[in-house]
Amino acid sequence: MAFRPIIAAAELWDGDMIARRVDGQDVLLVRLNGVVYAYENRCAHQGVALSEGRLDGYVLTCRAHHWQYDVRVGSGINPATACLRRFAVKVEDGTVFVDVNAPSPDVRDTEDVGDGVGPVLIGCQGGHAVLEAIRRLNPSVEIHKRGSYTRVLAPRRCMVTRRAIEDILGQSFDFRAELEIMMPSFKGRMRLDDDEAVWTFEDDAMSGAEASKTGRSHPEMIPNAMPSFNDRLRRGGDEAISTFEAGAVTGGTASQTGRGQKELTQKRTYWHLSDLGRKPTDYDIATSRMHYWTSRGFEVKAPVSEWYERYQRGSDLRCRDWDQWGDPRQTTYTTYTTMQRTREAFVSGLLDSIGDDYDRGLSPQWVAVLDRVLAPLRYPGHGLQMVAAYIGKMAPSTHITIAATFQAADEMRRVQRIAYRMRQLQITHPEFGSKAQHTWQDDPIWQPLREIIETLLVTWDWGEALVALQFVLKPAFDELFMTQFGRLARAAGDDVLDRIFFSLNEDCAWHRAWSGSLIQTAIRDTPESAPVIEGWIENWAPRISRAVSAFRPIFDEMLPSGAHFATALSEIEQFGQRYRESLFGPSDVSSV
Ligand code: FES
Repeated sequence: MAFRPIIAAAELWDGDMIARRVDGQDVLLVRLNGVVYAYENRCAHQGVALSEGRLDGYVLTCRAHHWQYDVRVGSGINPATACLRRFAVKVEDGTVFVDVNAPSPDVRDTEDVGDGVGPVLIGCQGGHAVLEAIRRLNPSVEIHKRGSYTRVLAPRRCMVTRRAIEDILGQSFDFRAELEIMMPSFKGRMRLDDDEAVWTFEDDAMSGAEASKTGRSHPEMIPNAMPSFNDRLRRGGDEAISTFEAGAVTGGTASQTGRGQKELTQKRTYWHLSDLGRKPTDYDIATSRMHYWTSRGFEVKAPVSEWYERYQRGSDLRCRDWDQWGDPRQTTYTTYTTMQRTREAFVSGLLDSIGDDYDRGLSPQWVAVLDRVLAPLRYPGHGLQMVAAYIGKMAPSTHITIAATFQAADEMRRVQRIAYRMRQLQITHPEFGSKAQHTWQDDPIWQPLREIIETLLVTWDWGEALVALQFVLKPAFDELFMTQFGRLARAAGDDVLDRIFFSLNEDCAWHRAWSGSLIQTAIRDTPESAPVIEGWIENWAPRISRAVSAFRPIFDEMLPSGAHFATALSEIEQFGQRYRESLFGPSDVSSV
């Protein structure tokens, strides 16, 4: 391949970006201060075309998730570890030429470096720390600054350790993964494990001298193997890392090529679960350790990282390793949809069994109660859904995130079913539900509950939100509506509503089961969390008690003796109390 004419230089104005396809490659051309740059038109994050982004001065911002690059050198600004693949470009006779197969000018590896060995590092915080660690650990090091990258050379042998880098950074450093990202090339033969990287002059390495020094069986990489890092990075970060880790973790997966060089072979995609000591289940694979930021922080510095720092890491609900907890039902997307398909079919059958005659047969008094309770029930239902989604979003492990997300989906299912039933009632009672929002906002029976839900919606601490929702609000809410109001429906001759609520309540039982086992795991791991949880329950319980009591007029209207609501209230209180005692033991906290 060779340089291809792409565009008349006069058509590419200063500050312009254009996309072209050249020899099967998507190319981004940028002109800045008279200089033309050519990069692969692909964001290093998830591959979105950078030509759709925004260029402000020399800063190119990807439209998708706002990763930013310095177009003068192709290196990342935010995150600093990112880098773009750069193509050779020239302007001759008023035409811009690009060669997509020429080596990137910034990582060209052709200079004569004698017996010097060591990495080429891109400019970023981690790269500087690696550089400094190499300086400290090796007696003689040459540093060659080359714009966006730095070549490090030590005579015949160069090494760096994770510990030295962490000492400099003052934080943990994911040695192999980070080094792969920040090292587009290196000179010499490289050996790498979790704690140490060593580059040796090839003749020494071939003689086995290095292996006998370390006494370890490291996987090996060869000079010129590193450009394939860029290839893997182009294909996507996870694959890139897992492909590389394959050889690094197993060691024995390296194989000889015909030229006597060693290659790395690919490892299973769930290599990160190797410490389970067993074959991972579908649940393990689909739900484990997907929040990389919980251990290493966010790659991109954005205001949201402070939010997580404060309301997730800063929460007083603590556990040393949240990943030790798993959903007792081991719910995956596949099992969830399979299970809910059956439940949905059951509820659909009940709803379909309702004809006009059924609704005409309901007493006006009961229809009025439904108008006051069933129609506005969508609003708190949406609130519960949003709080569950927030807990999932803020959770420190993907097991929790996924459980909370399915709970949010259950809440949405409940809202949809209520809305469907409401629409059915409107066929025979056209005004049904027309004032539902007004009822939710003004009717005294709803106001204590509305206050709680709206407060919970702005309870940012994920631990407090979890405790207040799962252990105080929902047990009372679900029992009040799904059980006690369902019974009231049956007493009013509305059996179908009772049966629908019974089915929806099966979801609620799982909400209690997963969150109960989660909180027990946290308390077992970090007993200091127990008084914190108790404090939150003490704070929220009296409000929930008031919210439940506010529904007395509804029960008294349908069953006037007054004794029915007293019984219902007592059952709701005992239900919540028993649930909490099963998790935390007996408590003096006022019952709900
Ligand atoms: S794809 Fe560019 S920032 Fe995510």
